[in-house]
Amino acid sequence: MTGPTPAFWQERFETAQTGWDRGAASPQLVAWLDDGTLAPCRIAVPGCGAGWEVAELAARGFDVTGLDYTPAAVARARERLANGGLSARVEQADVLVYQPSAPFDAIYEQTCLCAIHPDHWVQYAAQLHAWLRPGGKLLALLMQRLRPGASEQGLIEGPPYHCDINAVRALFPQSHWVWPKPPYPQVKHPSLSHELAVVLTRR
Ligand SMILES: C[S@@+](CC[C@H](N)C(=O)[O-])C[C@H]1O[C@@H](n2cnc3c(N)ncnc32)[C@H](O)[C@@H]1O
Repeated sequence: MTGPTPAFWQERFETAQTGWDRGAASPQLVAWLDDGTLAPCRIAVPGCGAGWEVAELAARGFDVTGLDYTPAAVARARERLANGGLSARVEQADVLVYQPSAPFDAIYEQTCLCAIHPDHWVQYAAQLHAWLRPGGKLLALLMQRLRPGASEQGLIEGPPYHCDINAVRALFPQSHWVWPKPPYPQVKHPSLSHELAVVLTRR
């Protein structure tokens, strides 16, 4: 299998090489919650890492399932919930094969797509489509991390892998998803350039 493994991510957590971790829930998630784009529902957070967003959603009354295949991530997310007196499921699972017991109303995708090798993006996109009920929302933060080696030599560099908007449109096609019109808001990241914030609706 190409790309990072759970052991790769475990080492990143154990050696504190977690530059993606804001130490708080993403300001874009908070904005979507505050403006009503996202209201309490049954939601999945794939690749939830240390669980900041899982905890924020749980605190706001969502029925949350955090998913991560790395033991350290699952432990941290569960600890965060316990410390906050919050209730949510955090399952140790590979998002490429996970099957929910019932469809989700929404998915919050933040730096999971860009953590997965592009060879597996088609499978991941199919999973997200299968998890959501028709009319469900995919709230995505698409990491923008283009490196010169990609455009000059076709190198596949990451993680984080660059989430080119044209590639994302091919993975989540109009036939399956309703896309809002660009331009999309840019979300600054303290250590990883920026993300594009896009809300898709599953047809
Ligand atoms: C870059 S981190 C992002 C964590 C979190 N979303 C955040 O923004 O703080 C990527 C996370 O995805 C998890 N991950 C990567 N591939 C996965 C897979 N196939 N199944 C489940 N989790 C995965 C890693 O273990 C890691 O915790």
